[in-house]
Amino acid sequence: MNFEVSNGDISKTAADAIVVNLFEGVTAPGGATGAVDKALDGAISKLIAQGDIRGKSGEITTIHTFGKLKSPRVVVAGLGKQKDFDVDAVRNLSANLVRALRRPGIKTVATIAHGAGIGGLEPEACAQAVAEGALLGNYRFLKHKKAEEDRAEITTVTLVEHDPAQAKAMTAAAAKGVTMAEATNLARDLANEPSNHLTPTGIAAIAAEVARKYKLEIEVLERDEMEKKGMGSFLSVARGSAQPPKMIRLAYKGGKGKGYDLALVGKGITFDTGGISIKPAANMEAMKADMTGAASVIAAMGAIAALKPKLNVVAIAPCTENMPGGNATKPGDVVSAMNGRTIEVINTDAEGRLVLADGLCWAKELGAAAIVDVATLTGAVTTALGDVAYGLMTNNDAFCSRLEAGAAAAGEKTWRLPMWKEYDEFIKSDVADCKNTGTRGAGTIVGAKFLEPFVGDTPWVHMDIAGVDIMSGDKGWISKGASGYSVRAMINLALAMG
Ligand code: BES
Ligand code: ZN
Ligand code: ZN
Repeated sequence: MNFEVSNGDISKTAADAIVVNLFEGVTAPGGATGAVDKALDGAISKLIAQGDIRGKSGEITTIHTFGKLKSPRVVVAGLGKQKDFDVDAVRNLSANLVRALRRPGIKTVATIAHGAGIGGLEPEACAQAVAEGALLGNYRFLKHKKAEEDRAEITTVTLVEHDPAQAKAMTAAAAKGVTMAEATNLARDLANEPSNHLTPTGIAAIAAEVARKYKLEIEVLERDEMEKKGMGSFLSVARGSAQPPKMIRLAYKGGKGKGYDLALVGKGITFDTGGISIKPAANMEAMKADMTGAASVIAAMGAIAALKPKLNVVAIAPCTENMPGGNATKPGDVVSAMNGRTIEVINTDAEGRLVLADGLCWAKELGAAAIVDVATLTGAVTTALGDVAYGLMTNNDAFCSRLEAGAAAAGEKTWRLPMWKEYDEFIKSDVADCKNTGTRGAGTIVGAKFLEPFVGDTPWVHMDIAGVDIMSGDKGWISKGASGYSVRAMINLALAMG
């Protein structure tokens, strides 16, 4: 889908549908909606008077123009109550509109920038949200499905703004929204892809494509190189799989110096069977998305390179399958991470923390000044927060606040969980420096507590996205299947730091 901004009068625009809006309670439409109403000889006002249009949130009314306007359809989108309307609502509305209008006969849609100038909403932020919402709402994963006869696609959405200076500012803002949404959709594509179609080797190939497109540095460590580096924790997970493991590094240099201002480390389990501690069959197919962290950091790097903040960012994605092969790691085995820390593997299904441990060590070795890791780490985070928010755990409140702000700006809810020292006890082992699971609850925190010693004093935030990585239905910017949560939060963080 193309997203464009043009300077002009929406009532004179020749798209297959033009979209205007109405707040709840407004009886005499003004602005662009008023202009369209006039051109329709007061049809919108009449429908309001009749009670057919009420401006309720989610209300979408199509009026056929039969030659009165260049466009054959006018769509009036209800905005709800003005006091509840914000940039998140703009993004969600734009996404819902694209889904609602997707039908044979509609290829081009023109819209005004919902919310711009209303109640203090920044016009640029609204334009960005309209663009983001349109592309995120338009997303579907249809790669492996035969085309149905009436599979409709909207090819172009044009944001029409009457003020020339405003239109110019909105063009840049919308372009940013497109970049953010395209990165999110790339992460969705990778997470939705079945594990037989996207192996660790496949992720490395995608990372190479991203590197080529955005001129990023790329390095992919193979098994023998990882052995030399002592990445025994990561490699212990890969032992049961026939697929070669890959440790992927992408680097963006927008700042000074050799090190990195920010490292993004993403869990890349292309399929998590649980290993020898094998998972039950029910819903195991969802574990094709256990590489969402890796997908998210790779996708975010492309957008960061496109938006050019002034800092150095490195992304690290340890990628492997977690399989119960003949050579697989067994419960009770002791392995050693790159920093020498020994780990007793109690449960081979707690593999995410094992691959992240070496990813975090490598980020430190590369000179990361701050680290964010993102992972579908624990089922327990779903028990705590459901699919409404993801968990954050940190060793640095100020750094965590910056990520929280980035997530909030992306329309993503987050919630911090405590990292009290009492939880350190939970992962003490009799035979090694630590063990990879606890036994006394607090599963999500235990995951973070396991990771904490691998980052040392470096400011760090752990994002556990296991509750939000796959969604059961479309809702605003969220699409059914892989959601793309965390991608725009990380991009926003990098932009705020650079
Ligand atoms: N990939 C899973 C976590 C997960 C569960 C993600 C459900 C998405 C949906 C992870 O590797 C795992 O299996 N974690 C275990 C940890 C336990 C053994 C300590 C879990 O959550 O049960
Ligand atoms: Zn697991
Ligand atoms: Zn896993």
